[in-house]
Amino acid sequence: MDITEARVRAEEVREQIDYHNHRYHVLDDPEISDAEFDALMRELVALEHKWPELRTADSPTQRVGGALREGFVTVRHRLPMISLANAFDAQELRGFDRRVQSALAGEKVAYVMEPKIDGLAISLIYEDGVLVQGATRGDGETGEDITPNLRTVGSIPLRLRRDIPGIFEVRGEVYMPKDSFARLNERREEAGLPLFANPRNAAAGAVRQLDPAITARRNLAMFTYALGFAENLKVKTHYEALELLSEAGFKTNEHTRVFWGIEPVIEHLVAWQDKRFDLPYMIDGIVIKVNYLEQQERLGATMKSPRWAIAFKFTPEQAETTVEGILVTVGRTGVLTPTAVLAPVLVAGTTVSRAGLHNEDIIREKDVRIGDRVIVHKAGDIIPEIVRVLPEFRNDPTEVFSMPRTCPSCGSEVLRPEGEVALRCMNMACPARLRESLIHFVSRGAMDIVGVGPSLIDQLLARDLVRDAADLYLLSEGDLLSLERIGPKSAQNTLEAIRKSKDNPLYRLIFGLGIRHVGERAAKLLAGHFGSLDRMACAGTEELSAIPEIGPAIAGSVHDFFARDENRKVIERLKNAGVQSEEQSAETEKPLNGKTFVLTGGLESLTRPEATELIERLGGRVVSSVSKNTDYVVIGKDPGSKYQKAVKLGVTIFQEADFKDLIESALR
Ligand code: IVH
Repeated sequence: MDITEARVRAEEVREQIDYHNHRYHVLDDPEISDAEFDALMRELVALEHKWPELRTADSPTQRVGGALREGFVTVRHRLPMISLANAFDAQELRGFDRRVQSALAGEKVAYVMEPKIDGLAISLIYEDGVLVQGATRGDGETGEDITPNLRTVGSIPLRLRRDIPGIFEVRGEVYMPKDSFARLNERREEAGLPLFANPRNAAAGAVRQLDPAITARRNLAMFTYALGFAENLKVKTHYEALELLSEAGFKTNEHTRVFWGIEPVIEHLVAWQDKRFDLPYMIDGIVIKVNYLEQQERLGATMKSPRWAIAFKFTPEQAETTVEGILVTVGRTGVLTPTAVLAPVLVAGTTVSRAGLHNEDIIREKDVRIGDRVIVHKAGDIIPEIVRVLPEFRNDPTEVFSMPRTCPSCGSEVLRPEGEVALRCMNMACPARLRESLIHFVSRGAMDIVGVGPSLIDQLLARDLVRDAADLYLLSEGDLLSLERIGPKSAQNTLEAIRKSKDNPLYRLIFGLGIRHVGERAAKLLAGHFGSLDRMACAGTEELSAIPEIGPAIAGSVHDFFARDENRKVIERLKNAGVQSEEQSAETEKPLNGKTFVLTGGLESLTRPEATELIERLGGRVVSSVSKNTDYVVIGKDPGSKYQKAVKLGVTIFQEADFKDLIESALR
């Protein structure tokens, strides 16, 4: 193939990719499998790699490409981004309609109804059909340029599917789907990070990331709801504008409807009161807009909002119920977590019987007491929460709830460390803590002991067969056979999985120990820096916090962990049982010793952590940025700017297949 043929083919492949991307992200109706899609992407990456001059700004290979930035640049909107006036009931809507009618001298008015997506307003600018800028609303006059982050959003076309010359601006709402929001908060709670109150805040956090790769992982989408600056377009109505946007490749909302007059609009609102909870994204109202653009123009706008549109806001769905009890559970790190047990009640489409109370301060702030009548809602339509107590219903004298001063599991004293909101059971041998920490130790990201899960751990604890993680390595076949539902075959498999885990890379053990604040990433950094658990155990907080990305919180908690006798004892016993506590030493010659790798883009046959582990097992190192010292850059689907940098610096580039060949030959 010469460059002329390659140019034609690259364009063909790009068109196919755009087509399938649109079917998947905009129409929710894919025609081909992920693997077929990836194959197209790989072909394009290969073509653009061989002939870099074929790479275009609107190429689908450039979605995750933006480099890390230090901050955001401010941009001025061509037309101000004003917001909407609100209406809360039918009367207010009739008032709005009267104002519209009188300004239009009694003309008939058609209204468009659209869901009001609870996300954040975005402006996208296309120049001759290519996305050149994406910005936040900001103060309405100026916003922040977040183009690289918005490029990662699958439902935003990088180039238009219709020929629109010149400058073309569209406006819409970027949002986080409800399920992505719930998963994100779950991960944040596990990591001890503050939770997002709703999908809107989560989406706002995601688009303001300095690293577009993080935005890409947050699974955002965008509904487009209006034209912005679009001089050359001749459309008569808002509805036609939406159709045009849809043809141009944007995701527009399928629940958009047009009605003549305000009464049918009001009738239709009733159906939305329930329907909104069935949507996979959160809406906080319905926007009602005058359909004819010419009428819109005559109506004009005030400083704050257009006179031709109004937002009907739903009252947030709440329900009243009784707190039947407050349950306190103990987690792996000893944190006591209170949960309100509620009389079951229907909220936002499902029955709620528990609500997280998070910590002592929140209980005190809300003054939640057992027996109280309370108002509950769901954050982001999904996470049940107590909004407030109704103290007027307290007739019997009720007691202020206080968290237990002793651990509900082991009875030992609990402490509230300075500067923290949580109470902790400090007893390392606390049965509840032990159970949770064993579950963590064997989990997939940690020691990955297949076949040992919560129910087996419960049995082992009940029979006093394990008292800490090290005991797992002393289990015999007889021990396992004495348990319920374990036959000889599964006993052997379990023992084999336990044995195999002894040779895990060091970071898995570090992560598995369950040191506070030490997630998988920190464990890898620590393993890479110290190369041995003993060296890590001796490190002072200064040395620890000098490691890039290791902050004072991690440093402090690592130091505290190793300062405790009981932890040192368990580690000693783990080592005696043969668990590797050293990074495979550099002396043993390994095929990839001293080689540094950078991974970019999604790999098809293995995950990033798997690829990293293989490289590390073979003596190589995985680093995050490309420099002239990098030996290899491995590129997967949608490789980023690292790929371009590698090309520029002349670093050896591996496609996934090359990389697998290398690993296979190295493993031999
Ligand atoms: S139209 C000039 N349509 O609601 C009018 N806005 O309070 C521009 N929003 O800033 C807005 N869904 O962020 C419009 N279907 C929709 C919307 C919508 C959500 C947001 C938007 C706007 C805010 C107004």
